[in-house]
Amino acid sequence: MSTRPFRIAPSILSADFSRLGDEVTAIVDAGADYIHIDVMDGHFVPNISFGAPVMKAIRSVTEKIFDVHLMIAPTDAYLADFAKAGADIITVHAEAGPHLHRSLQAIRALGKKAGVALNPATPVSTIQHVIDDVDLVLVMSVNPGFGGQSFIPDALTKIAQAKALIGRRDIDLEVDGGVTASNARAIVDAGANVLVAGSAVYGGNDPSTYAGRIAAIRDA
Ligand code: DX5
Ligand code: ZN
Repeated sequence: MSTRPFRIAPSILSADFSRLGDEVTAIVDAGADYIHIDVMDGHFVPNISFGAPVMKAIRSVTEKIFDVHLMIAPTDAYLADFAKAGADIITVHAEAGPHLHRSLQAIRALGKKAGVALNPATPVSTIQHVIDDVDLVLVMSVNPGFGGQSFIPDALTKIAQAKALIGRRDIDLEVDGGVTASNARAIVDAGANVLVAGSAVYGGNDPSTYAGRIAAIRDA
């Protein structure tokens, strides 16, 4: 069980993009802690979502933490754009390039919190030598690229391993993919303190349901 504050980070990937600003306001009003922003390039992952200009457009609707998950390769050339567009946490994938340490340093040099994400097949040991260079570890519990996939059960083992690596450090442990009110308890018990939820919050795109959906995950 994590001792760090529990956070829910709804992913706007499942929002209705035709009224994105209102969808962000609605999850803030419904109790979101972080706003999870999934950036996909159609190269590192087999899907394209949106980039820094879209993120910048929603920066004006809330002061909440923008938790930016970059599923792009290469990453370094775009970090300043996302910092300028209002990111608070910038997470890069460990698999996205050969110089992870450099990318993490670059994020911190921009004055932002640095995160590192691990695809399902990537072992926790990959980040053992950069653990003091990160503010957040993101364990992917689906193959990145799409919302609405099922949670991969092996992720629970990895969350526990990541928690052990983090130890007493001041680092968020985030889990992304297939999170629901039914598995949230097990994920937090394994050691995570930040849960990303896309379809579990935005499913149906009916703002009147968002508070109940967020509460169901929080109360689990
Ligand atoms: C997957 C994204 C996730 C996704 C989660 O590539 O990184 O953040 O939006 O969506 P759900 O919660 O529907 O699995
Ligand atoms: Zn994500």
